[in-house]
Amino acid sequence: MYSHDVLIVGSGLAGLRAALELVGNLDVGVLTKVYPSRSHSGAAQGGVAAALANADGDSIDAHVYDTVKGADYIGDQDAIEILCGDAPRTIIELEHFGCAFSRTDKNKIAQRAFGGHSFNRACYSADRTGHALLHALFEQSMKHAGNLQVYAEWYVMKLIIEDGICRGVVAMDIKSGKLEVFHAKTVLFATGGYGRAFEITSNAYANTGDGIVAAYRAGVPLQDMEFVQYHPTGLYGHGILLSEAARGEGGYLINSKGERFMEKYAPNKMELAPRDIVSRSEQTEINEGRGAGPNKDYVFLDLRHLGKEKLMERLPQIYQLAKDFLGVDAITDPVPIQPTAHYSMGGIPADNDCQVEIDENGNHVKGFFAAGECSCVSVHGANRLGTNSLLEALVFGRRAGKKMLEVTQGADWAPVDEKRELKAVEDEIATLLNTNAKESLGDIRKELQSTMTYKVGVYRSGEEMAQAQGILKNLQAKFSNVRIDDRRKNFNTNLIEALELSHMLEYSELILDGAIARKESRGAHAMIEYPDRDDENWMKHTLAFRTKDGGFELKYKPVRVTKYQPEERKY
Ligand code: FUM
Repeated sequence: MYSHDVLIVGSGLAGLRAALELVGNLDVGVLTKVYPSRSHSGAAQGGVAAALANADGDSIDAHVYDTVKGADYIGDQDAIEILCGDAPRTIIELEHFGCAFSRTDKNKIAQRAFGGHSFNRACYSADRTGHALLHALFEQSMKHAGNLQVYAEWYVMKLIIEDGICRGVVAMDIKSGKLEVFHAKTVLFATGGYGRAFEITSNAYANTGDGIVAAYRAGVPLQDMEFVQYHPTGLYGHGILLSEAARGEGGYLINSKGERFMEKYAPNKMELAPRDIVSRSEQTEINEGRGAGPNKDYVFLDLRHLGKEKLMERLPQIYQLAKDFLGVDAITDPVPIQPTAHYSMGGIPADNDCQVEIDENGNHVKGFFAAGECSCVSVHGANRLGTNSLLEALVFGRRAGKKMLEVTQGADWAPVDEKRELKAVEDEIATLLNTNAKESLGDIRKELQSTMTYKVGVYRSGEEMAQAQGILKNLQAKFSNVRIDDRRKNFNTNLIEALELSHMLEYSELILDGAIARKESRGAHAMIEYPDRDDENWMKHTLAFRTKDGGFELKYKPVRVTKYQPEERKY
């Protein structure tokens, strides 16, 4: 058994930022499925938001208002005030940590436009902002290498909560297949999102919701799972992110007739309306026959008018992605794009200090924290504004670290029954390895992903979601007969993929059932049968609880409103 005062699971921005707050004061372990510098935070491209003084007229209040409105009024406003209020300090801190932000001619931090923000607020490093931030934090953490134990390529299998107290996790060393209990006084989950349940997604292969499912299986409810964000500019057929920065720098969206169709849907903001609105507009163009290609199933991102120099200076990565994956030269041709599953607004419910909540009354699981995309604080409500996720990870990662320091210093060691915990995980693995092996893992995953993309997508209907429910039940039954060919211990990616798929099947059901229950349209949840937002009945957060028989129960809790009453969203 390993033990640390604090165990952080996940080494993206939230996890590493929390670690920096703790290291030197406590014994800290960081356990991560991928090597830290490969965490998915590094895939974020366009920027990190802050109302610096660079844009005339911008203010923290304006950032708060844009975020509340962008979230379609279901974000918790006290949390949003914290997010936006701490943003300027956060940017300066990251610059001092060594993040190389792009500069203006006057050598200030450059800021570009982003969807739903009323000022140029996105601080950026060309179109590799997440990469620059992640490496700055990783370097900082390396300074403490002697005090910070990193377990890279370890896979969390179980969260240990007993009598309302979090005591650690069981994890597998992917390299050797060895199982170990990690005993800790406090645990932070910073395990990222869950977009891999979708066929068209910008998410890394690792984003299979392992953390949220471990929490859910340990008795923690999951919040607002129905709100999955579709980013408007996924590379056609692949879903790979082409940053919103492309539109922030002046890129257009056009349909097969060459029309800038956003004129019809958001005449003031055009391509820089929030993502839910832009993705719906694209999908409407496609559904009404104005898409391009043999199947009329994509539209275009047109960057030609920006010119080679600007493109190569500000957006070099997206130029290369279009070239490498579609063979399209964005300097001379428009790039085929489609909405792509990008961000999980839902997740593990947590308060403003990232303490995990176990019920609809805000009671805590002692010693358990969550931050970043796996958590639902909720600052993004039903639709996140671009650039607010890197910010959230940094602001709330730091807050988690501060609170964990206080809590851990006053905490005792709660005992762990090592044998029992290991046996539970060994049994789970044995069950997977001893099925009658009739069903192909790849086929089950493929059908799940296409069902989620095409039946629980940008627009949702009761009929298609009912079909999806039936398919999901069938896939869950098939999964109990899944075939795992690889029997080795070391680097058994076949087994890991099966474990990941079991997680994807479990949380997809929660996305679907939360969506079926929510009889309104709000943010990323657009129901054909209920096209309007219904504040009277649905201005509330969903909580999905796992029942003893492996089913679930939905409950609801109120949204925290401080200043801004809901209004019609116009852009
Ligand atoms: O479009 C982008 O660069 C993505 C940024 C984000 O999701 O915040």
